[in-house]
Amino acid sequence: MSRVVPVPGTSAFFAAAANADAAWFRCLDQNRRAAQNGNMNKSGNMTGAGGKRVRVIHPWPLRVTHWLNAVAIVMMIGSGWQIYDASPLFGFTFPPLITIGGWLGAAIAWHLAFMWLLVINGIAYFAWGAGSGHFKKFWPLSPRQILRELGLALTFRLKHETGMYNAVQRFLYVGVLFAGVVIVISGLGIWKPVQLWFFTDLCGGYFIARYVHFFAMTAIVGFVAIHVLLVLLVPKTLPPMLTGGRIET
Ligand code: HEM
Repeated sequence: MSRVVPVPGTSAFFAAAANADAAWFRCLDQNRRAAQNGNMNKSGNMTGAGGKRVRVIHPWPLRVTHWLNAVAIVMMIGSGWQIYDASPLFGFTFPPLITIGGWLGAAIAWHLAFMWLLVINGIAYFAWGAGSGHFKKFWPLSPRQILRELGLALTFRLKHETGMYNAVQRFLYVGVLFAGVVIVISGLGIWKPVQLWFFTDLCGGYFIARYVHFFAMTAIVGFVAIHVLLVLLVPKTLPPMLTGGRIET
């Protein structure tokens, strides 16, 4: 089929140009409506089979901050145990095999170095979480629901839905984030009780701050033990935390 190309400047040329413009705006309008109807994500370029939305399970800022945090936590706990051993609060010390630093001075150097990673990474995570709406994933959180799902989890009847956190997970994650804030505030209060006196005071003074710091550490270690056990029990949750993963919604 031959196509007649209108001569520029003629009325046929201007009519064709107007038609092309109208078609282009119709196309833009369709895209806008598709995005509104959920057939396309906000960047307008990702639709799954059957027009379903494809979403990344764990976006990259979450993965980067999660794994940096895991490294920081291991270093902070190991060096913290070495520091504790120099002046124990209770009638026990941590075996040298599971401490980091070898002696008090080196342990303090490790502890303060990784404190910067923990704090800067933590601020990045909270800023991203607040800005992206990520924290909605931790909601709703009711004691009834937690107890019900805990019962199901303990009897191995709780299903893990990809891309969603169950009530037990939501409770554990919110709890460890809270413990993370407490451990940083009490740590800063012990480190600089003169300059950062408001953190020391917030914990009830220097000596109580040491106990607060220790119990926050215990909560985090308890969380990590349960967290890693759950990942081992449901190993399909691990690859998306490494690669991002994709899910159709
Ligand atoms: C080798 C150690 C670790 C492994 C294998 C691991 C693995 C994972 C996996 C697979 C998830 C996603 C769970 C899901 O999709 O159902 C997750 C989420 C999470 N992990 Fe870990 N993790 C580790 C260490 C840690 C540590 C040390 C902390 C903090 C103390 C931590 C805190 C969290 C939090 C708060 C989430 C939820 C993140 C969010 O959605 O904002 N993890 N982890």
